[in-house]
Amino acid sequence: MRMRIGMVIAVLSLLVPALSMAGQKTSIFQTKHNLSVTGTGEIKSSTETRVCIFCHSSHNTSTDGPLWNHETTSPGKFKTYNRSTMVSRAEQPNGATKLCLSCHDGTIAVGAVRGLSRPIPMRNVAAGGEIPQGRASRLGTDLTASHPVSVKYQQTLALSNSHLRWPPLDPEGRVGVDADGYVQCTACHDPHGSRSERYPFWHKETFDQVCQVCHVF
Ligand code: HEC
Ligand code: HEC
Ligand code: HEC
Ligand code: HEC
Repeated sequence: MRMRIGMVIAVLSLLVPALSMAGQKTSIFQTKHNLSVTGTGEIKSSTETRVCIFCHSSHNTSTDGPLWNHETTSPGKFKTYNRSTMVSRAEQPNGATKLCLSCHDGTIAVGAVRGLSRPIPMRNVAAGGEIPQGRASRLGTDLTASHPVSVKYQQTLALSNSHLRWPPLDPEGRVGVDADGYVQCTACHDPHGSRSERYPFWHKETFDQVCQVCHVF
């Protein structure tokens, strides 16, 4: 057991330089997801020096995501994107979408990590520590104005929608569905950095390169 925990820590610390070398224009350290005191955004901690800790830890993490350390919103709270134009059905947030919304729905404090009785103190957050009202980054729990997420993308779906490609095709293997076949926030965004100058946490250099992995026009 001791061996395994040691390995997890070793892997996490090896990945810190690895993440910044992954051919990205920006590493997490230069993005708004550096929520530590060295962060570049307005929302950042006034005390915490660790970068990964807001999302990951080494022990007592949850099974919601990889070594996941942030509190998550209870399921069932969200209004999902389900227009009549859609063939598929957007489910309540699952997979990585659930992780992203644990900060971006604006219901949980940004510094609310597991095992602390009070959230990590942050600058420029709402009274309860959440992303404040009125910021574009606060998506809320009504997801009807955003690209559908937590949607299962199968061949049967692609056959009934002539604008969908099957299988999704990204030779670089970055854009696509998750291991369970779902389109998540991470289909377009990489939470650790961006390859685009223009689009935040973007998997590709241009906007269209991401859409074209799944859509045909
Ligand atoms: C703002 C939140 C956030 C921060 C900060 C963050 N991560 Fe992550 N990380 C995520 C999410 C979300 C996933 C899950 C991605 C998925 O399922 O596609 C993830 C996944 C991972 C994974 C699994 C492999 C992968 O890339 O999907 C590793 C390893 C990882 N992060 C390492 C780190 C390290 C090391 C740091 C600190 C330098 C860090 N992360 C900081 C959100 C974050
Ligand atoms: C621990 C909290 C936390 C988690 C988890 C988190 N974010 Fe963020 N994210 C933030 C904060 C705080 C900001 C800055 C918001 C602001 O300044 O208005 C931000 C900013 C962003 C931005 C805008 C970046 C820019 O440069 O304008 C995007 C896009 C984003 N997040 C996507 C994601 C996605 C996708 C996930 C999941 C894979 C995720 N976030 C998970 C806290 C989080
Ligand atoms: C289909 C691709 C796609 C998906 C899926 C997606 N986003 Fe985005 N997101 C974008 C683009 C493009 C922008 C940049 C908008 C702009 O610059 O006008 C963006 C911007 C953002 C921002 C910055 C605020 C803003 O409006 O500028 C946040 C935060 C964010 N996304 C979070 C998320 C979260 C959380 C999810 C999952 C619930 C998600 N995104 C799913 C494409 C996507
Ligand atoms: C990982 C695959 C994937 C990526 C990447 C992706 N989409 Fe989608 N998109 C889907 C799926 C699946 C649907 C649901 C289609 C359905 O059910 O009919 C969808 C639906 C849509 C819809 C239709 C919504 C409706 O009401 O019918 C639009 C518009 C759209 N996507 C635009 C975009 C744009 C723009 C981008 C790039 C920024 C993008 N998508 C990236 C998979 C993807």
